[in-house]
Amino acid sequence: MATKQLIAGNWKMNGGLAANQALLEALLAGIGQPGCDVAVCPPAAYLAQVQGLLAGQEAIALGAQDVSQHDNGAFTGDVSATMLRDFGVRYAIVGHSERRQHQGETDVHVAIKVKRALAAGITPIVCVGETLREREEGMTEFIVKRQLSAVIHLNGHCISEIVVAYEPVWAIGTGKTATPGEAQQVHAVLRAQLKAATEHAERVRILYGGSMNAANAAELLAQPDIDGGLIGGAALKAPDFLKIVGAAA
Ligand code: 13P
Repeated sequence: MATKQLIAGNWKMNGGLAANQALLEALLAGIGQPGCDVAVCPPAAYLAQVQGLLAGQEAIALGAQDVSQHDNGAFTGDVSATMLRDFGVRYAIVGHSERRQHQGETDVHVAIKVKRALAAGITPIVCVGETLREREEGMTEFIVKRQLSAVIHLNGHCISEIVVAYEPVWAIGTGKTATPGEAQQVHAVLRAQLKAATEHAERVRILYGGSMNAANAAELLAQPDIDGGLIGGAALKAPDFLKIVGAAA
């Protein structure tokens, strides 16, 4: 198991100035000294606001939900890794299934984005996961290994600096969680793949994401190869998110 677990909240395209402030004030009031690393990933438009609200404390770090695969230039709407860095961003989610699905991101795009993030000193949280159909066809292992292998191929020994998130697509926002056993099985596959690529595989954190909540977090986080969580819906409610943080070792 990696040294410190990581609980990251992916706010997705939710929030607003007032709601963000209320959520962060509640989180900061309740978090104390967490026994794990904690991050929140607001929409890009609110990075400056959230950076300001997080100033002067170390319990909660700032993350982004995406990063451009380009350095700079004529890429309308993109936000580069160095721009994220300007706002104190420590983590960037890369290759979330919603982006693979709606923005056509491929394994190659994801691998390049990881490289950009690492070059800017940002820790990428690389999402992998199978759809329901792929699981039913017995393709889970093949899919997640293919997705991670593109990232390993392009990033070589730097792979020890990433975070991986296993997010079965069928479990995202559906209330259907992978059982701790099902999740651990896939995490073990990913760990073995990392071990073949780096001698530091044990320190790579592999998060679980997909309907993780205050009630099921402890059992998931107790699995030997589950090193944290990437939380969607439950990250928008301070008491729920704080309970998940409390469940992490
Ligand atoms: P939910 O926790 O809402 O299922 O979302 C998970 C997720 O996609 C986090 O990135």
